[in-house]
Amino acid sequence: MPDTRRILITSALPYANGHIHLGHLVEYIQTDIFARFQRLRGNQAIYLCADDTHGTAIMIRARAEGRSEQELIAAMREDHLADFSGFQIAFDHYSSTDSAANRSLCERIWQALRQRGLIESREVHQLFDPDAGVFLADRFVRGGCPRCQAADQYGDSCEACGATYSPAELINPVSTLSGTTPEVRSAEHLFVSLEPLRPFLQDWTRNSGALDQRIANYLAGHFLGDPLRDWDISRPAPYFGFEIPDAPGHYWYVWFDAPIGYIAATEEWAERQGCSFADWWSPSEANQPPAEIHHFIGKDITYFHTLFWPAMLEVAGLNLPTKVRVHGFLTVNGQKMSKSRGTFLLARSYLDHLDPAALRYYYAAKLAGGIDDLDLNLEEFATKVNADLVGKVVNLASRTARWLADTGLTASYPEDGGLFAQAAADGEAIAAAYECCDFARAMRLIMQAADRANLYVDQEQPWKLAKQGPAAATKLQEVASVALNLFRQLVVYLTPVLPKLATDVADLLGGPIDNWDQSQTPLTGLPVAAFRPLMRRIESSQLEALLAAAAAESAPPIQLSHSPLIRWLKPAPLMTLPRLTSE
Ligand code: MSP
Ligand code: ZN
Repeated sequence: MPDTRRILITSALPYANGHIHLGHLVEYIQTDIFARFQRLRGNQAIYLCADDTHGTAIMIRARAEGRSEQELIAAMREDHLADFSGFQIAFDHYSSTDSAANRSLCERIWQALRQRGLIESREVHQLFDPDAGVFLADRFVRGGCPRCQAADQYGDSCEACGATYSPAELINPVSTLSGTTPEVRSAEHLFVSLEPLRPFLQDWTRNSGALDQRIANYLAGHFLGDPLRDWDISRPAPYFGFEIPDAPGHYWYVWFDAPIGYIAATEEWAERQGCSFADWWSPSEANQPPAEIHHFIGKDITYFHTLFWPAMLEVAGLNLPTKVRVHGFLTVNGQKMSKSRGTFLLARSYLDHLDPAALRYYYAAKLAGGIDDLDLNLEEFATKVNADLVGKVVNLASRTARWLADTGLTASYPEDGGLFAQAAADGEAIAAAYECCDFARAMRLIMQAADRANLYVDQEQPWKLAKQGPAAATKLQEVASVALNLFRQLVVYLTPVLPKLATDVADLLGGPIDNWDQSQTPLTGLPVAAFRPLMRRIESSQLEALLAAAAAESAPPIQLSHSPLIRWLKPAPLMTLPRLTSE
């Protein structure tokens, strides 16, 4: 195929110090839908990711749990992979930033930065916890706000007045690791000077087409209008990460080696395929057509991916991202996910109680490709999934497939008033919506076609035809063949979102769905297997079970010595859910 695109697709690498939650899944489901869509269109799309394993937080957690960092990240990797596969997120390769491939790529990019004269060394004053023996990242220090005096604020910003400051300015700072008062110590840090790259970044952020206008404006307004500050790229020992070869005792800051993990994942994948990462990351005449690189990220990590990362790639002479697709944050029932409110929903808890396809569809229906936050409203979630997937899509098959179990589909496609042709023609608009990650629009178009198909079944009333016996047998086979074809056409369009439904439908009729063009031609003369239920309604009891799991999850570990037992005996309050109306 001459117009086959080569597309490398990534999601941000999840931290190895925590479990996957429904907020993360906004990103991984979204990226997986995009990758599956590209493959269905016949493009070569590879979806790569990895665990982000380095940094102080992981070092501290491993210590607290009395095991090595390696043991911790190996266990977390298993959990992450189980959660991802539970949600049918299909990576072509899932790596780790703590890999040999990543270390050597870090060295290579580091050398490029050195050779360009962009690395400088400087003394930094930082808080040090003498008990724990570590320099404290901002989030491990709390104290009074130097501006408004509010007590118990984080090391970098005040939640009361919004001031930002350095942790050394806090009033009576306390280390959250040991509870001791940290000391100010100075240490040498290495910095990347970014200012020489500002003209490049100004041009790339505006003119490359990689960024949404809103993001480009944000960067211009907040960063690129003034000289860029140097980027503190090293941390002194002890630190869990890669030691810098030409600066013993110093480690690359986690945000240096994390994005390089995208390339390392490519290298490991490429090795298995017998090709090279350079086929994707090096601008070369031989790489035809040129590879596209699409990064999916949350808005909180925008500047790492739109300033530091392109700067590093530019200096190393590597391909720049074709698209950085930034999404918003998940709220649950209108509020930030919160352990204390019992709305911190883990992927695992969800999988224990609900169908992953339902969340995939709900997120698809909400994601319009912009940076707006999206809300998981549990009541709306159940209503929408039940109405659209169960009521409109699956219902088409469950109401008609059984009439074809003996006869199979008609030998030629019957007259359907133009319904199949109309939905086939919609294919281009649906594909365009997927392409720009406006999945919400794609889902709307698909549901409109589903409405038309259901109207057809309502009008033709196959259940009445069935009662008329042999006299209406031909008509019944025709009506059911139309309905089932319209159903399968919808399923082709939904395949990126609902891969499990697509494989179940393959068993029902017509075999594997693996090409978008299967939406363009109706099936004829084929057998239809016995119908098996394809999807179940969401019941409110399942949502209650999920919330109960979240509430249990949020209970802090029992420390009988200083917490009144009564607190643990009272059941955690459950969010009250209105009963879901049944059809
Ligand atoms: N390790 C870094 C990324 C390094 S990429 C070179 C990181 N990890 S993370 O685990 O905190 O987040 C992984 C991704 O999930 C990020 O893109 C982040 O924005 C996204 N999300 C985390 N919580 C989220 C929500 N509540 N809602 C939507 N996306 C969220 O950042
Ligand atoms: Zn303050």
